[in-house]
Amino acid sequence: MKILITENEELASQKAASLLKQAVVEKPNAILGLATGGTMLSVYERLIGMYRLGGFSFENIMSFNLDEYVGVAEEHHASYRHYMNSNLFDHIDIQIKNTHLPNGNELNVEQNAKKYEKKIQGSSGIDLILLGIGKNGHIGFNEPTSSLASRTRVKTLTQSTRNQNLKYFDKIEDVPKYAVTMGLQTILDAKKCLLVATGAAKAQAVAKMVEGGVSASCPASILQHHEKTTIIIDKAAASKLKLLDYYENVHPNGEEVYF
Ligand code: PGA
Repeated sequence: MKILITENEELASQKAASLLKQAVVEKPNAILGLATGGTMLSVYERLIGMYRLGGFSFENIMSFNLDEYVGVAEEHHASYRHYMNSNLFDHIDIQIKNTHLPNGNELNVEQNAKKYEKKIQGSSGIDLILLGIGKNGHIGFNEPTSSLASRTRVKTLTQSTRNQNLKYFDKIEDVPKYAVTMGLQTILDAKKCLLVATGAAKAQAVAKMVEGGVSASCPASILQHHEKTTIIIDKAAASKLKLLDYYENVHPNGEEVYF
């Protein structure tokens, strides 16, 4: 694991956006794994800013998002399709037909999850997957106790995740109980992983992911098994790491942009 620690959230987002840009510049037909959530808003904002300066294109980029709620229509403001279109896809030259999210329609949801997994497996493979982390250590919607060998499927959301996402809905009853998510093994199949976490509320989950044992009780800890994972965190999210000095010594100011 490469642990890059930045002074603040802005610099973490900037670094993550630079690494995404680099992946697109190096391979203009790359397949990206993409994430939603509050943390990614400023990452995408910066990526759009870089795109506007010119010099690279998403025209031949393909994307697979990590997850989608079950039973939330695409047009709903809280759907992840809506999030991706309004926070990234509408502002860059990616072809919408090349952007994929799991189908959260309740009809045939399990079957559609399997089809999504097949589509990923039938592609040339995800080159770089962007990940956030939940306070409970989830990546995608792989909640604690998710099988470390899991594939795209329906997961029941924990109450803590539903509470965390309440801000996107009017009331708790409206927050979905289920989601379709790439599995942990699906994520591990990506050639590179890039996880971004900011803020003190993530410090405990980050410490368990990086320095705890690999365990389904902290699904993100499975990334310890990935050969090419970069973790970008700000000082607040890094505050519970025991080997903080070591990581800062290896990459002063998070200065390391190569995988
Ligand atoms: P957040 O969500 O970026 O909104 O904190 C991350 C996650 O739960 O995966």
